[in-house]
Amino acid sequence: MKSFLLYTALAAFPLTVSGFPRVAQEAALQLSRSVGAVPRSNGKRAVMFDPAAQLVDVTGAHAFTPPDFDAGDQRGPCPGLNALANHNYLPHDGVAAWIDIFNQTVSVYGLGEDIAAFLAVYGAIFDGSIVSLDPGYSIGGPTSLDENILEGLGILGTPQGLSGSHNKYESDASSCRYDLYTGGNDYKLISLNMFLKSVNENPQFFYAPFAGVIASTGGFSFPPRMMSNKSAEYPDNGILDKEVLKSFFSISGPDDDLTYTYGHEQIPANFYRRAIGNEYIFAEFLEDTAMFASYFPEMISIGGNTGTVDSYAAIDLGNLTGGVYEATTLLEGNNLACFVFESLLAAAPDVLKGGYSDPSGPMSTLLDNVNTLIGNYACPTIESLNEGQFADYPGAQTTSTGGGIL
Ligand code: HEM
Ligand SMILES: *[C@@H]1O[C@H](CO)[C@@H](O)[C@H](O)[C@H]1NC(C)=O
Ligand SMILES: *[C@@H]1O[C@H](CO)[C@@H](O)[C@H](O)[C@H]1NC(C)=O
Ligand SMILES: *[C@@H]1O[C@H](CO)[C@@H](O)[C@H](O)[C@H]1NC(C)=O
Repeated sequence: MKSFLLYTALAAFPLTVSGFPRVAQEAALQLSRSVGAVPRSNGKRAVMFDPAAQLVDVTGAHAFTPPDFDAGDQRGPCPGLNALANHNYLPHDGVAAWIDIFNQTVSVYGLGEDIAAFLAVYGAIFDGSIVSLDPGYSIGGPTSLDENILEGLGILGTPQGLSGSHNKYESDASSCRYDLYTGGNDYKLISLNMFLKSVNENPQFFYAPFAGVIASTGGFSFPPRMMSNKSAEYPDNGILDKEVLKSFFSISGPDDDLTYTYGHEQIPANFYRRAIGNEYIFAEFLEDTAMFASYFPEMISIGGNTGTVDSYAAIDLGNLTGGVYEATTLLEGNNLACFVFESLLAAAPDVLKGGYSDPSGPMSTLLDNVNTLIGNYACPTIESLNEGQFADYPGAQTTSTGGGIL
């Protein structure tokens, strides 16, 4: 689809924050020419605009309320979740139960229930606790709310939240966040960052299967799909104009004097979400990811720098997966999703050992979650992951939450 190609093409250039509005404006112009004219890829569903059902309430209890960091409020790398907390769709302190993250991303943005459930539960398993819904997990860094409450539930160490989930959820080469190593943090907006910039600047750059192929590419497809404003004229993909994009990304001011305010992501007034029944489902996300990858193969290339800048080497997927998957056939059939989620299942037991005294419960929740998402793909199982493949990449050794990459 033209608009996404453009969005991605623009995103591939390293830009300063001052370059952001020009890019947004060009993207918006292109979007307004192309979206709406582009039929859904399945070409079957007619999309009906229902203004009353789609208008997102940002008044009263849902009026924008910025975080109070001194009081311990948490905001992190995800502008979608930060905005939900700022509008009290999620707890304002930024610590939320997965069921609420599921519910609110579906009802406020029109995220598909399949992706929403997976992403929300995944965060609980790896960045907080799946053992208890209360208090949930942090959409930013570690929170004092977790203390005491998780004691006695078999949670090892302090859950690190989404910001602390480097190489598990949070990834290098995010669309607009620093790499953890080069930026000192992985959650503040920098500019359009991308793969090549990370290769050129981050000796510890690493792009992992789930964190890279799913979480990082989601950062590119989610804004045009779910932050664009829907209307009778553009009921399917909507229009993502500069002011709306700036609002969701917490950027204010005129083009020549832009300011980024950490944590102030805002849902604009008069914003219409995706049509009811036209939610952004996993199949569409996979189509977008495959489409990105057909132009920018690096977006599905697992690997990283080997300790110096510009030393990028891809991982040999055949060797990694015992010959079950190969890089050259990832875009065939369901291979991409199968590779990502089967390698996740193969790597997870080791990672979970670091977080739970008894990892079997979280592991079976993860397995159920993966089965719900891709159970009908009949994916070949990876019997054992040759993690020796990661040894040459310093960026794959330094997860802030302990060993293992996902
Ligand atoms: C189900 C709940 C969700 C969870 C648990 C979640 C989590 C995350 C995480 C961990 C990242 C960091 C990925 C990276 O480092 O590259 C991220 C990035 C991002 N998320 Fe979400 N997310 C969710 C839903 C959404 C929704 C509904 C939207 C849009 C409406 C959204 C928009 C974004 C964007 C644009 C980025 C990239 C930010 C950047 O790099 O500047 N997310 N999300
Ligand atoms: C989601 O939240 C809305 C509004 O708070 C509520 O009406 C609805 O019942 C919730 N749905 C689920 C599945 O929890
Ligand atoms: C969304 O589109 C509608 C219809 O064109 C418009 O009235 C509304 O102001 C737009 N909202 C935003 C946030 O741009
Ligand atoms: C896989 O890679 C390792 C080095 O990481 C090498 O020793 C081994 O021979 C390779 N195995 C296969 C089957 O290619």
